Amino acid sequence: MALNIGKVKLNNPFILAPLHGVNCLAFRLLCKEFGAGLVYTPMVHVNWLVKEKCIPESIELSKSEKPVAVQLIGNDPKTMKEAVQIVNDHAPFVDIIDLNFGCPDGDVLGWKMGAYLVKHPEKIPSLIEAATSATNKPVTAKIRSGWDDKTINCIEVGKIIEDAGASAVALHARTRKQVYEGKANWSLIKKLKETVDIPVIGNGDVSNGKLGKSLLQRTGCDMVMIGRGAVGYPFIFKECNHYLKTGKEYRPTLTERHNAILKFIDYYNNKQERYKFSELKQHVMWSFKWLKGAKGFRVDLMKTKDETEVLNLVKAYFKGWL
Ligand SMILES: Cc1cc2nc3c(=O)[nH]c(=O)nc-3n(C[C@H](O)[C@H](O)[C@H](O)COP(=O)(O)O)c2cc1C
Repeated sequence: MALNIGKVKLNNPFILAPLHGVNCLAFRLLCKEFGAGLVYTPMVHVNWLVKEKCIPESIELSKSEKPVAVQLIGNDPKTMKEAVQIVNDHAPFVDIIDLNFGCPDGDVLGWKMGAYLVKHPEKIPSLIEAATSATNKPVTAKIRSGWDDKTINCIEVGKIIEDAGASAVALHARTRKQVYEGKANWSLIKKLKETVDIPVIGNGDVSNGKLGKSLLQRTGCDMVMIGRGAVGYPFIFKECNHYLKTGKEYRPTLTERHNAILKFIDYYNNKQERYKFSELKQHVMWSFKWLKGAKGFRVDLMKTKDETEVLNLVKAYFKGWL
């Protein structure tokens, strides 16, 4: 089991997945603090980077979140190369460049990007080569298991990615057609690990510490990527690391939950420059999704007008429980 992606060393194998609409800087910092070994930005369209010639405000990078991977999505090698150069120039401290070959979104497929490229893997090498030619940072790729259950090709695609010079491959073990339905097929992660020599990052359905360890052990993958299990619950990384070390469950106390929400609000206000009240509220809402007795919170939260009101509301709900 490797804990290195190229020259980048991770402290532990549990990774925050790229999550569009979720992974703002404040959230990535919180996940890191709760034990994520690596955090990903949401996908960034290479055309956007090349047009604006800077890093989009929405992904706001910081040295404090290192190690961090910036995920790019595109389909033209020249634009890919330029986009990687922009990341190099504007955020030289970024550790890893990841290429998205798995997004199932209709618009993205219409642009012939994301999971479209798993259906047309012959287009993948030139994109990886364009990225590696523009940076010394490790370049990785994230894929799905195939287009649909009749065209599962992640093992071949993984090999193509390795041969093109990528430093790791992440497999979300669902097809494009499944989107998020059904169960992720972990046996494909195992097969991919047995096929390629670069590190394999397994992804799909890890929602607690036991599953995190189980994905590592059952597939032999090097690292585990966690998406939905982290939304509103950065503790997932502490759970996974704790279970891996001790074989015992860890559950945060209500006080820890309360403090983490307050910390998120503090980070949102003080550690990132970009401020969007609706985004802040959305994260607070997600943090409550896992709490029993939070009925009515959503309605109350919708009525808040600024972060002081949000803070007071959070405190009032917890006061009833603590
Ligand atoms: C809200 C949301 C946004 C996502 N955004 C991205 C993205 O920007 N790039 C990407 O490669 N995958 C994205 N994904 C997919 C996740 O990274 C991950 O592969 C998927 O959720 C499966 O992992 P999980 O079962 O741990 O959630 C997104 C998923 C969700 C739910």
